[in-house]
Order: sequence, then structure tokens, then C-alpha cells
Amino acid sequence: MKSIQEILKEKPVLGWLIFIATVVLVFLLGMLASSIVQRRAEAVFAYTPEVTFSENEPRNSKWGELFPREYNSYLKTADTTFKSKYNGSTMVDMLEESPRMVVLWAGYLFSRDYNQGRGHYYAIEDIQKTLRTGGVPSPQPNTCWACKSPDVPRLISQTGPAEFYRGTWDTKGPEVVNPIGCADCHDSKTMNLRISRPALIEAFEARGMDISKATHQEMRSLVCAQCHVEYYFNKNMTEGVQYLVFPWKNGTTAEDIEKYYDEIEFSDWTHALSRAPMIKAQHPDYEIYLTGIHASRGVSCADCHMPFISEGGIKFTDHHLQSPLNNISNSCQVCHREETEELIRDVYSRQDKLIENRDILETLLVRCHVEAKTAWDLGAGEEQMKDILTDIRRAQWRWDFSAAGHGSSFHSPVELGRLISGGIAVAQEARVKLARLLATLGHNREVSYPDISTKAKAQDFIGLDMKKHNDDKKIFLETVLPGWVKEATEREKSYDH
Ligand code: HEC
Ligand code: HEC
Ligand code: HEC
Ligand code: HEC
Repeated sequence: MKSIQEILKEKPVLGWLIFIATVVLVFLLGMLASSIVQRRAEAVFAYTPEVTFSENEPRNSKWGELFPREYNSYLKTADTTFKSKYNGSTMVDMLEESPRMVVLWAGYLFSRDYNQGRGHYYAIEDIQKTLRTGGVPSPQPNTCWACKSPDVPRLISQTGPAEFYRGTWDTKGPEVVNPIGCADCHDSKTMNLRISRPALIEAFEARGMDISKATHQEMRSLVCAQCHVEYYFNKNMTEGVQYLVFPWKNGTTAEDIEKYYDEIEFSDWTHALSRAPMIKAQHPDYEIYLTGIHASRGVSCADCHMPFISEGGIKFTDHHLQSPLNNISNSCQVCHREETEELIRDVYSRQDKLIENRDILETLLVRCHVEAKTAWDLGAGEEQMKDILTDIRRAQWRWDFSAAGHGSSFHSPVELGRLISGGIAVAQEARVKLARLLATLGHNREVSYPDISTKAKAQDFIGLDMKKHNDDKKIFLETVLPGWVKEATEREKSYDH
């Protein structure tokens, strides 16, 4: 072995080469270090809010001037092109998809119109267009605006929640105009996550909990739980007000919530066919998520629906809230090593299996309502029907609680399987009682299943005057809505002075 000195003596060029290579390497390292420092500085700059607007600034574009990356990704919620097997951002008419729902909701506004949710960008447009809000005066209270807009915390800060909820939905039309956005989830001074909705704070208080003690990771789900939850309107709290309440006093499972509603003898409506006292499940996404494996492993809504992305070396939170199946690499593969196709297959297989049985429950519920109606028509008495109607209420609650949240089959498949099978058992129980009752009333054969093969046929079957509802909406959109827009534009101009 020759020593290095000997080699260099023989070939001095080699010494120079090593010297130059070292100089280049040191230079490159210097560049890298300087770039890191610079990007850090950029990041600090990007996150330091120079607040030039008020605490409850409802216009997302104003926040966007300070936080262009988050704002631009938020704007992508306007994209309606992605469709997965059961979800996505395209507008899907759920009643057309499953006309059985029309019968399940007979006597309730949902039987007129129900679409699968789109991006946050459309929250205002979609509530204005749905037949459920009708025309002027609207059949709905202002409470319906609660989960649609950062104008809501702005107005609540002026009057308190009860006064905000007071009155029919159309009376705040010119005030609530900006779709879900920054002020719904962020404190304008610190940009920390904030809870802007009193209903969630009050729901924690009702359980003896303090939401201000929530951890940062919990907040990454709780900001969503301001809206993606089960709720009802309580008419007994403030005179003339339908007050927004999350029914969590006994806990957040379907049974806890059902017990709460039973205790206060609450029903959303009386079913038009069966006359059962019904409860409508809204979208208990958060409650069902809590029962799943990801929640128990501490994975938050934002981890899957708002993953980090990187642009020009800066890492930030993707505000394009959407189906994670459109973004498996950032949403899932941070934690899971499986291939994209395999992860999608996992999601679809859970959805397929649950929806198979949920459809069976749905069909059984149609039968329950129609058979109960037949019993009434044949002269059944209140006492004879009482137990049966309670069963129908319970069975449909289990169906709705598992159907209303569109991600639930993935968020918590085992819990959903439990609820759906429980619902099937109760619905069958009701039908056994109905068969016995119908026989004593002289009807000892099958009650025929209605022809509800399309939405139109189902709506006709339950006696809806769809022409009238569609005409009312058309008049509203053509004559009332433009005035709201004009009024709002004028009002918002004054914010900039
Ligand atoms: C202020 C209320 C509100 C908050 C807060 C909120 N959402 Fe939503 N979200 C909605 C409404 C309303 C819709 C339906 C919009 C429509 O269809 O017009 C929706 C739709 C969605 C969709 C469907 C989008 C699509 O393109 O299919 C997803 C996913 C979603 N939200 C996830 C979340 C997550 C995750 C959070 C928390 C990080 C959250 N949301 C916070 C009200 C809210
Ligand atoms: C549905 C709730 C929600 C809405 C609406 C929302 N954000 Fe966020 N935002 C989050 C979450 C969750 C994070 C991650 C925060 C964390 O973990 O500390 C975040 C983080 C941020 C951050 C910190 C830097 C980063 O990217 O992680 C900024 C800045 C920000 N958002 C700006 C905005 C702006 C601007 C808007 C309106 C266009 C907006 N956000 C709307 C939930 C929301
Ligand atoms: C922050 C980490 C994290 C993210 C993000 C994440 N997961 Fe998971 N996932 C977990 C953990 C932890 C478990 C539990 C497995 C365990 O503890 O061994 C799990 C379990 C699962 C399971 C099996 C449990 C069940 O319910 O059957 C599936 C399937 C799954 N994940 C799919 C996904 C998909 C699809 C996504 C993206 C939409 C995703 N995960 C995102 C951490 C994560
Ligand atoms: C482990 C990842 C993960 C977590 C955590 C998670 N989700 Fe989801 N979410 C999904 C997947 C996967 C789907 C199914 C998407 C599909 O079928 O296209 C979904 C679907 C949804 C949908 C319907 C989306 C659509 O396109 O219509 C909503 C709304 C939703 N989730 C809200 C939430 C909320 C709110 C939370 C927290 C309470 C949450 N999710 C937690 C992965 C997750």
C-alpha cells in the first residue's frame, strides 16, 4: 500500500482535483444553507398575518390577499369534476338515485329535493337553490344558515345566537352571502383554529366539557364538527326561536342521541303515510368518525381531507377539501405504504358491503310505512299502532344515521354495520306486528309494494305537487335573489372604508 503523500507526489494533478472538488462542495453546501434560511424566512413571512380587516371579515378573497396559497387551494372546492364510486364533488340527485328515500321522508321537506354535498364553495348557491328552502316566506328558519357561511359568526357577534336564528330563512338572505371560509375556522389575529359556532361550544358545556381545553390535534377535527354533525332545532328555549342544538347531552352514539330525543319527546315530523313520530338524522360525520379506528389512533379530519402539500419548497395545508380518493398520495400514503389501487379498493369494499345491507333496510322501511298506512286505512286504533310506530321511528333513525354522512361507510365500517343490522332487526319486528294487526283487521295477505321506480313516481305516490314547488322556486330565483345580491354588494363596499 502506498501512502497518500506518495500517490500525490507521483500525480500532483490529483491533489489539485481534490482541492477543487472540496471548494465546489463547500460552495454548494453554502448555497443549500442559504436557501434553507431564506425559505424559513419566507415561511415566517407567509404565516405572519398583517391584519388589515376586521375580526369577522366574511369575504374569503380579503384573507386570500394575505394567504394566497391557502386561498387558491380553497378556490379549488369549486371544481365539480371528481366522482368516486359513491361520493365526489359532482351534483348527484339522491332522490333519483334512490326513490325509496322519497317515501321514507313523506311529509318532510327532504322528499322534495335532496342532493349529495358539493364543495364548500357552493354552500350558499346550493341552499338558495334547494326546494327545501322554498320561496318567500320560507318554510325554514334562519337557523338553516348556521353551517353555510362566515357571515354567520359576523352576524352572531352583533346580536348573539338566538336573535340570529330568529325569523324565516329568507329574512337574512341579503346578509348571508359568502360561502364557507376562513373566518369559520380561523382567528383573524393569530390564524389559530377557532370555534366560531356557539352550538358546538354549548354542546361541550352540556356534557360538562370545556372546548377551549381541546388539543391542537382535536381542533383539527372540531373545526369540522361545527357543521358536520347531527343537530336539531329546539323551539322551547327562546320564545319564537328555533335554536340550534347538538343533542349530545347523553353522548354521541346513535343510541345516546336517540335516548335524548325520546326523553324530550322530540320528533322532526309526523310521517305522512305511517303517522310515526320521526327523527331526521342530519349528517353525523363527526359522531360516526369518533367510533372508527382512525379517530382512536388520533388521526383527524384534516389529516385526510386537508393534508399538507408543497409548492415552491413551502409546505402548507391544502384547503381543497374534497374526497380523499382524489388525492390518495397526500391523504393516505403519508401513513399507509399500500398502492393507490389497493387503498381505493379498501374504501370501495367497505362501502359496497355496507350499502348492500343499507338498501335492504331502506326497502323494509318503505314496506313498514305502506303497511302501517294500510292498517290505519282499515281502522286500526292509536293503541294498536303505538308500539309499531315506535319501532318504525327506531329503525329509520338507524338507517338515516348511517346513510346521512356520506363518508361514514369508510370512517367507521364496524359501527355502521352494527347500526344497519340493528335497524333491520327492528324493522322486521315492526312488520311482524303489522302482519298480525293487519290479519285481525281482516287483511290476511301481502300489502303490495308501490311502483316507486323513479323519483317522479315516488313523489306522485306520496302526493307531492312538484310543479308548484318548482314554480315557487323559479319565481324566488328570478325575482327575489337578484335583490339579495345587490343589497349585499352595496353593504360590503362599506367594509373597505
Ligand atoms: C361552516 C360549516 C362547515 C364547516 C366548518 C365544514 N364544513 Fe364541510 N361542508 C359543509 C357544507 C354545508 C357542505 C355541503 C356544501 C354543498 O354541497 O353546497 C360541506 C361539504 C363538505 C365535503 C364534500 C365536498 C365534496 O366536494 O364532495 C367535504 C369532504 C367536507 N365538507 C369536509 C369538511 C371537513 C373535513 C371540515 C373540517 C376541516 C369541514 N368540512 C368543515 C359545511 C361545513
Ligand atoms: C374548515 C376549516 C378551515 C377553513 C374554512 C379554512 N381553514 Fe385554514 N386551516 C385549517 C386547518 C385545519 C389548518 C391546519 C392548522 C393546524 O394544524 O395548525 C389550517 C391552516 C391554515 C394556515 C396556516 C398555514 C398552513 O397552511 O398550514 C393558514 C395561513 C390558513 N389556514 C389560511 C386560511 C385561509 C386564507 C382560509 C380561507 C380562504 C382558510 N384558511 C380556511 C382549517 C380551515
Ligand atoms: C395519520 C395517519 C393515517 C392516515 C393519514 C390514514 N390512515 Fe388509515 N390507518 C391509520 C392507522 C394508525 C390505522 C390503524 C391500523 C393499526 O393501528 O394497525 C389505520 C387503519 C386503516 C384501515 C383499516 C381499518 C379499517 O377501518 O378497516 C384502512 C382500510 C385504512 N386505514 C385506509 C386509509 C385510507 C384509504 C386513508 C386515506 C383516505 C388513510 N387510511 C389515511 C393511519 C392513517
Ligand atoms: C382516515 C382518513 C379520513 C378521516 C380521518 C376522515 N375522513 Fe372523511 N372521508 C375519507 C374517505 C376515504 C371518504 C370516502 C370518499 C369517497 O367515497 O369518495 C371520506 C368521505 C367524507 C365525506 C364525503 C365526501 C364526498 O365526496 O361527498 C365527508 C363530508 C367527510 N368525509 C367528512 C369528514 C369529517 C368531517 C371527518 C372528521 C370528523 C372526516 N371526514 C375524517 C377519509 C377520511
